[in-house]
Amino acid sequence: MPSGRGSILRSLPMALPPGPRLPPLLQTLAWIRRPGPFLDECARRHGRRFTLRFVGGRTFLIVSDPADVQAVFRGPPEVFLSGQANQGFRPFLGEHSLFVLDGEAHRAHRRPLLGPFRGERMRAYGELIRDLSLQEVGRWPRGRAFPLEAAMHEVTLEVILRAIFGEREPGRLARARELVERMTGRAGAVLPFVGALRRDLGPWSPWGGFLAARARFHTLLVEAIREAHRAPQGREDILARLVAEEGALGTWGEEGLRDELMTLLGAGHETTTAALAWAFLRVLRTPGVLGRIREELGEGPFDPGRVASLRYLEAVVQETLRLHPPIPIALRWLAAPAALDGLEVPAGTHVCPSPWLTHRDPRVHPDPLRFRPERFLGPRPTASAFYPFGGGGRLCVGAPFAVYEMQVILATVLARVDLRLAGTPTLRARRKGIITTPVHGTPVVVSPRGAGS
Ligand code: HEM
Repeated sequence: MPSGRGSILRSLPMALPPGPRLPPLLQTLAWIRRPGPFLDECARRHGRRFTLRFVGGRTFLIVSDPADVQAVFRGPPEVFLSGQANQGFRPFLGEHSLFVLDGEAHRAHRRPLLGPFRGERMRAYGELIRDLSLQEVGRWPRGRAFPLEAAMHEVTLEVILRAIFGEREPGRLARARELVERMTGRAGAVLPFVGALRRDLGPWSPWGGFLAARARFHTLLVEAIREAHRAPQGREDILARLVAEEGALGTWGEEGLRDELMTLLGAGHETTTAALAWAFLRVLRTPGVLGRIREELGEGPFDPGRVASLRYLEAVVQETLRLHPPIPIALRWLAAPAALDGLEVPAGTHVCPSPWLTHRDPRVHPDPLRFRPERFLGPRPTASAFYPFGGGGRLCVGAPFAVYEMQVILATVLARVDLRLAGTPTLRARRKGIITTPVHGTPVVVSPRGAGS
């Protein structure tokens, strides 16, 4: 904290800014059922700072002015805690997960993860992601509507199992897929939020079923770690890189590495799935965008070696993440009082920059509700005007991987087949755990390229 903070704080107003007057139970329900519209309504009525009060006495100060966003992301990490705010994920990701750690423990776990996810290293995964996308396209029904989101769920899971965990053995891949489905299915989406459901009443109860699947999945992960440790040579996957180059196994131990793999799966799967479902929905709804992507791609099958030169495609991904950041708020919990411009925020408050609100603020992004990838072809917005991956010392580790993966999947699919939306799906969102995804799952009908022309 800067020196003299105490005296500054004493002269600032102590009350948090106003927010909705609804009782906490109704605010909690509105936040769970319709996070985007609820945030929009609150911002319209109360401006760029407002306070939400949830059941359990939890207070969330939502901020969206880039100056406040910057103050939070640059605030001292020993005051603006993220791990503390994420404790609900501990049973899912593990006690050594980056997500639930703060301070030195967090920095020690984060450092080794940064290297393998650096942007230029992503090229190694291009062909794998393209091939997995083509296999997925090959399984799609022709001429009949199906939800593209479910198809993206399959591809992104396969990408994590293969490119991140390095799994190649068909039997273990099939078991891993089944266990992930069991951990993250319908019950898995609500378990992190409803503590009362977390009671082990045998394998048929939601929590008992989750614990059994988690134990079997842990066994698979430990097998994969040992294999990567025994023979890391010739492998490009992220697990092998962590074990071989960064010495993560030595730093974290086997359990620590296992928890980080759970974290990469938990943080990287549904987020990327939702972002792709939104991207296809927007591309197919917005006249002109598909044509421009295809013009940039040119004729013939897609070569992932060209990703870096596809500026418009990258802008499409960014514009999607601007209008539909899959995680609508970043979470921090104040371990001590902190000052935002003209306001003292008491310890114990959750302070949450909202990319959803900042990205839709006309003072930050003109004509904000229009899907216009061209806006990303000019100078890049600042880190507090555009932050779908959060910020500061907690900026998403997987961001370069996610953007690259989205580019390769979009390009592969759009170069291979013609897609049209089935009906007129709305832009309304539904919640899936902490993620927001299109309510109808982006229903499409697929046909071979050029069949309709
Ligand atoms: C479009 C896809 C994705 C989105 C929108 C997204 C978004 C986010 C956000 C908002 C955070 C919290 C940042 C903060 O609190 O300031 C985060 C953290 C994180 N993400 Fe992502 N993410 C995506 C994909 C991925 C992928 C593919 C991986 C890895 C495979 C990943 C790994 C992580 C990890 C490990 C953290 C925790 C970082 C820390 O606490 O230090 N994410 N992500």
